[in-house]
Amino acid sequence: MKKNLIVALSLLFSVGMWAQHTMTVNVSKPVAEIQPTMYGIFFEDINFGADGGLYAELVKNRSFEFSQALTGWTAFGNVKILSESPCFERNPHYARITEDGQLSRAGLDNEGFKGIGLKQDEEYRFSVYARALEDKPMKISVELVNSHGENRLVKEVTIEGKDWKKSTVVLKSPFTDAHSRLRIVLLTPGTIDIDHVSLFPVRTWKGRENGMRADLAQALYDLNPGVFRFPGGCIVEGTRLESRYQWKHTVGPVENRPLNINRWNYTFRHKFFPDYYQSYGLGFYEYFLLSEDIGAEPLPVLSCGLACQFEGNNAVPLDEMSPYVQDALDLIEFANGPVTSAWGKLRAEMGHPEPFHLKMIGVGNEQWGEVYPERLELFVKAIRAKYPDMKIVGSSGPGAGGKEFDYLWPEMKRIGVDLVDEHYYMTPDWFFANAARYDNYDWKGPKVFAGEYASHDHASGKANNFLSALSEAAFMTGLERNADVVHLATYAPLFAHTDAWQWNPDLIWFDNLKMMRTPNYYVQQMYGMNAGTHVLSLLMDGKPVAGQDQLYATAALEQSTGEVIVKIVNAAPHPAVTQLELAGLGKKKIVSGSQIYLESGDLKTINTLEQEQIVPRIRPLRVEDKRVELSLLPYSFTVYRLQIK
Ligand code: AHR
Repeated sequence: MKKNLIVALSLLFSVGMWAQHTMTVNVSKPVAEIQPTMYGIFFEDINFGADGGLYAELVKNRSFEFSQALTGWTAFGNVKILSESPCFERNPHYARITEDGQLSRAGLDNEGFKGIGLKQDEEYRFSVYARALEDKPMKISVELVNSHGENRLVKEVTIEGKDWKKSTVVLKSPFTDAHSRLRIVLLTPGTIDIDHVSLFPVRTWKGRENGMRADLAQALYDLNPGVFRFPGGCIVEGTRLESRYQWKHTVGPVENRPLNINRWNYTFRHKFFPDYYQSYGLGFYEYFLLSEDIGAEPLPVLSCGLACQFEGNNAVPLDEMSPYVQDALDLIEFANGPVTSAWGKLRAEMGHPEPFHLKMIGVGNEQWGEVYPERLELFVKAIRAKYPDMKIVGSSGPGAGGKEFDYLWPEMKRIGVDLVDEHYYMTPDWFFANAARYDNYDWKGPKVFAGEYASHDHASGKANNFLSALSEAAFMTGLERNADVVHLATYAPLFAHTDAWQWNPDLIWFDNLKMMRTPNYYVQQMYGMNAGTHVLSLLMDGKPVAGQDQLYATAALEQSTGEVIVKIVNAAPHPAVTQLELAGLGKKKIVSGSQIYLESGDLKTINTLEQEQIVPRIRPLRVEDKRVELSLLPYSFTVYRLQIK
């Protein structure tokens, strides 16, 4: 209340001191279409974004396949890791537990991902594949242990028979604790084998058994994303070709998807996470399903036969590229093929006989040099021959400009890809200064996919502060004004676990119980929720608004409702008054309006898990016939929606 009063008073007394502006929006002639895919999501398993994050599995190293088979586990009593006559041939290790009937106990504790987050009264589904080596029923206890070491819930499960069998039990947690453990104790004297030990919240996103953490998936849905790019990032490439992302390893029964080390395990020496692996429980089928659930177009990206070029020159010889190209063709069949096709059949068996309607595919991530186009061309030829309507995304390298970028763009045009992926992790100043980056791009060439971007405020340790968010909002006015050139844009990275991150800033932070939407998230959301369908011309003194007096603006029409949507950033530390006039209305007029805004007097403000200080707020908006007076708050991003009738 007090803050509002100060803002109002400062507006009243100071507005006269600052220049007044008039912005004119021409509503009669839309300038370009805004693609429904315009604002989207980039997902990579970095910062424990998948295992330990979005993927709701709570047990780490559930298959005993990490290079140290007991990572994540504390074994007590007689426990051995074996692989003879395994349950799953591609994940062959399992644990053998022997209870000798003496006083000490035999079993295993799992520590989860920096602890297991349990919520009081929530249900969790425990499952295990097990066999008994005895001719009698063998009992195990499954226990939820809190961070003080007390087992507060114990359920018994009976293991019977010498063949591997799955057992399941649902546990209702009697406590809330972010750092709980799961304990399994063999109660009956004798020996059993166990594998693929799993604990999932029953309440996942959409209630799916191998599903997503509900709050995190909901946060994605709430962005109203148009596109969902997966599975990365550098993770696509691998530090060596052997560790690249192979989508075929990520489909079929989850238990038999071969584990891969996560490159973010060891990439940064100062942020070493030896317990970071990819279980692929969140694999390509789940990515497609999630795209569908959140209403976004799927955009898978595949290895182009080059491992991460930052790490060396590990390239597939050109005459050995056919399995890589085949992977791309097979992926399209997996997503769209009839159930009678080999890969379409697998999709159907996994539960989705209908196609996923894949329309775009990316080949390569941050590649450079001649080695890239010569490999990409092989994919383009093969995909065009079989799937002429498929849109292909190429790369312009790791930077926003420079030698590699300047070499690759003409190459992308020559090869004829549909979209070119650009990446920029730059300073807030760069983002403000580049709001007009796309004003002079060639709109006849391939379209732009701003595939990875984030404003890095180095002075604040690259925090997700309001400065970074505001600079992104300003920059994005330029994406939208140039929607004839820019078809997709995705902030990166998406998720970070507060106790296990390698890279910042990130859009959404979480721990084992809570999550936090950053100011940057809300900028994305305000764009995603208010994208509009067509760009309208918005001029101030005859020019697009791209930094004059620290103002940035764009206007769009939402054809389905007839609303005009205006987005304005005031990056100045003082308020501004802007007359917004709508030209070309004919007999129509503005009948109502609304405004939603983000603001902060302190550019260093961040949100935390405990408190989100920067959140969208609404204020009433007084409209007149064909004009509106806008009072822009200092350091603010506002979206206005004007209903025309
Ligand atoms: O988003 C994090 C990393 O940044 C991505 O994996 C990579 O593509 C880029 O260098």
